[in-house]
Amino acid sequence: MSVSNIVLKKPVPEDGANVYGLVKKCPPLDANSVYCNLLQTSHFADTCVAAKRNDTQELVGFVSGYVLPNDPSTLFIWQVAVSESARGEGLAKKMVVNLLTRQSCVEVKFIHTTITKSNQASWALFRGLSKQLETDFKESIQFDQELHFNGQHDTEFLAEIGPIRR
Ligand SMILES: CC(C)(COP(=O)(O)OP(=O)(O)OC[C@H]1O[C@@H](n2cnc3c(N)ncnc32)[C@H](O)[C@@H]1OP(=O)(O)O)[C@@H](O)C(=O)NCCC(=O)NCCS
Repeated sequence: MSVSNIVLKKPVPEDGANVYGLVKKCPPLDANSVYCNLLQTSHFADTCVAAKRNDTQELVGFVSGYVLPNDPSTLFIWQVAVSESARGEGLAKKMVVNLLTRQSCVEVKFIHTTITKSNQASWALFRGLSKQLETDFKESIQFDQELHFNGQHDTEFLAEIGPIRR
């Protein structure tokens, strides 16, 4: 599938159940719940992106994010999901960059996300993004396997991209 046949939109609540279905098919992402996706596609729609096929309107990509409640200069990217059929064509990066063009992100100077050590695709995506934005990339521990997850989940490393010049 060519990315030129895909349109990027602000999601609507009616997308929530399809987001759940997409994320579920994108390991190692946590599937969360339909209710969580409904909140993302309603309350947080301004900082989420839905990628749909032009012809069928099938949801093939989704980015969930929010501006940190105590820091309007930082956009936190929660999850990025691209269906297998649409991978390898720059869609994930395009969706994140699309968010930076939104009115809701005019004050954003930094992008934060968390990544487990083994998620090579995610490291590549966000390192590639920092290169494209010609800015710095820093990593540190955000949520520790023992301290925060009681040993139930791998450590989540914070990746910080910025400052972003526009
Ligand atoms: C990770 C994921 C979102 C990438 O989607 P995509 O549209 O194929 O990514 P892009 O084409 O925009 O690629 C962005 C960069 O990551 C690199 N990349 C993408 N997938 C990769 C992989 N599996 N292994 C290594 N590098 C990868 C690309 O080469 C590109 O690098 P560049 O910027 O240097 O050119 C997709 O594979 C996915 O949904 N995976 C499952 C869920 C997941 O792990 N999400 C992680 C983010 S929370």
